[in-house]
Amino acid sequence: MNRNELITALRDLPAGRRIITALDVPGQDQALELAGRLGPAGGFVKVGLELYSAAGPDVVRRLQELQRDIFLDLKYHDIPNTVASAAKIAATLGASLCTMHAGNGRGAMTAAAEALAAAPVHPVTGRRPALLAVTVLTSLSEDEMQEVSPSGDLLQDRVERMATLAWESGCDGLVCSAADLPRLRQTIGQEPLIVTPGIRPAGAAANDQHRVTTPREAMDSGADFLVIGRPITQAPDPAAALAAIAAELD
Ligand code: C5P
Repeated sequence: MNRNELITALRDLPAGRRIITALDVPGQDQALELAGRLGPAGGFVKVGLELYSAAGPDVVRRLQELQRDIFLDLKYHDIPNTVASAAKIAATLGASLCTMHAGNGRGAMTAAAEALAAAPVHPVTGRRPALLAVTVLTSLSEDEMQEVSPSGDLLQDRVERMATLAWESGCDGLVCSAADLPRLRQTIGQEPLIVTPGIRPAGAAANDQHRVTTPREAMDSGADFLVIGRPITQAPDPAAALAAIAAELD
């Protein structure tokens, strides 16, 4: 499946199916229970470092049995051979989206993108995973970034440079904050798939997120998928919270 076909297939999902609920829980039982409470409409879920460290690939298989699409957010950062091998496993597991750091460089991003392009289409999803690049972690301040790698680039410049490199290297899209989105879309255009966290429905608590955007604003700014955790997972009725957000988008 080539890049354009894959991006189009994912982008064409109804808006409600492009809300990814972050299963930020420390074990398989909690993850499956939460996925169950999301109900049949709770299509897309995120398995991140915490859950994967605790429960491994088995939780991905079990979530698939519940007909969930998986955003496998492990943010690979390693040599080309290793990230390409990890990406192949993501394809075998039937992840729909997976992530790596753009700071891996052109060689590793190309290797992972080529490994995924060559991976067989998964029998359940009918797709291979889309490869998303993390440009600069949005938790990094300007001072911290300059401390790690001093340069004339300001943080926003770095985000745009990394985004361009990721797209040129064959990645299918990016993870980025909604605040960076309008400018980033101007730089990279409409084609790359964009997944955006830091979303809060109007009136919801910001928790530890500093810059929050409503689901509607994020989609209008050019996001394709939204990652939402606590406003859904800590609601008394997660399925109802998800449905309310989906209704705002449709
Ligand atoms: O609960 P909340 O909606 O804040 O969860 C957001 C999810 O998105 C978490 O899984 C978090 O790790 C992830 N994330 C984020 N900000 C980023 C990148 C990822 O909140 N910059």
